[in-house]
Amino acid sequence: MIEIKKLGDHVGAEVTVTGWVEATRGHGKVSFTVVRDGTGIVQGVLVKSQVDEAVWEIQQALTQESVVALTGVVKADDRAPGGYELGVTRVALVSQAEEYPIQPKEHGVEFLMDHRHLWLRSSLQRAVLRIRAEVEQAVHDFFYDRDFVRIDTPILTGAIGEHAGTLFETDYFGDPAYLAQTGQLYVEAACPAFRRVYCFGPTFRAEKSKTRRHLTEFWMVEPEVAFADSDDNMRLQEKFVSYLVARALERCEDELGVLERDTSLLEKVKPPFPRISYSDAVEELQGKGSEVEWGQDLGASDETLLMEDRELPLFVHDYPKGAKAFYMKENPEDPRTVLCDDLLAPEGYGEIIGGSQREDDLHRLQERIREEKLPEEAYAWYLDLRRYGTFPHSGFGLGIERTVAWISGRHHVREMIPFPRLMNRLYP
Ligand code: 4AD
Ligand code: MG
Repeated sequence: MIEIKKLGDHVGAEVTVTGWVEATRGHGKVSFTVVRDGTGIVQGVLVKSQVDEAVWEIQQALTQESVVALTGVVKADDRAPGGYELGVTRVALVSQAEEYPIQPKEHGVEFLMDHRHLWLRSSLQRAVLRIRAEVEQAVHDFFYDRDFVRIDTPILTGAIGEHAGTLFETDYFGDPAYLAQTGQLYVEAACPAFRRVYCFGPTFRAEKSKTRRHLTEFWMVEPEVAFADSDDNMRLQEKFVSYLVARALERCEDELGVLERDTSLLEKVKPPFPRISYSDAVEELQGKGSEVEWGQDLGASDETLLMEDRELPLFVHDYPKGAKAFYMKENPEDPRTVLCDDLLAPEGYGEIIGGSQREDDLHRLQERIREEKLPEEAYAWYLDLRRYGTFPHSGFGLGIERTVAWISGRHHVREMIPFPRLMNRLYP
């Protein structure tokens, strides 16, 4: 059995490919069968006069997504999808599929989402998921090449990682436990052990908003670096994001083509990225007619407005304390703000990274935990990190689905993950 992507090595030879029938057509003297085997697609050409009656009959009865083994001679043909054709001599039916729900016509997105387990097979979804896989591999390669140690952080946690509003709570033998909103606090604990660490895994937020940027389960990569300040942190982020984009451009050219992604702006994504302080951003936004007030977090519409005339990702740094999480370090130059950044993607994709220098002062961190009315006992271990050898450190979290949406040029994060979890969707 030969994989379709290897057909080029077998021109002129008779081979067998096995896969799923995407389409059949032609009923007179010649008929065509398009087969997908997961490595590519190929068209088999069957000439009635040249094959046994039985072979012709099997081909005629094939339904979409039936599994077949096609045997035939490989021919190079520039017009054929994938560049090769099979002159079919035999067709063996492995399994006949029932009438396939997804037809080559327009379906509503809810219908497609209900059939997500089948929709994954379609060409656009395959392209997106292959880009996702490439981005994930690039994440690991980037950090591995830079001597980061990967730390797997718990999913069941006793302390709130980010904020109280969006917690999934579950019963843990009589006590409440939360699904992790972030791995950050745990990865911070591993920082004194290895200096440079990162975690990568699913994170959970009971987002009650139905937007195209929010999932309730999404994947996040979170590096943490000892002795890095907020400026070092942004430099690492721009290198990292540029690397991910470059990898997708380099290794997913076909997929970006299937998605008809205009890659001209992606080609420009190279460090350094421009920066703007939160205060300047608010001023700019007000000038553009936004009603945002100093002190509020920036919403999706403000982010879009801010990126209107910008081609590169943009760092917005030093947000007001009240708009951000408790663990961020107070800005010594303006204690109303914290040393943090959000990285906004261009073309309306919004925030893909949230990062900060961490509060390394025990007493200020305790104060912040109290101010936010978080249960201090649950953070005793986290405070220990400030008691026993505290040190300046910074880190960030990049959301995989939003990053893949931007790179793929697809506007809704629900298609960026094989099985999306949304407020109104737990099926399939
Ligand atoms: O800005 P966030 O909330 O930051 C953190 O969780 C920090 N603990 C990260 C750190 O410093 N280690 O989330 C980081 C990123 C966002 O920029 C966004 O890309 C993604 O995670 N994200 C979501 N993606 C999809 N659906 C959601 N509901 C998301 N919430 C955040
Ligand atoms: Mg954020």
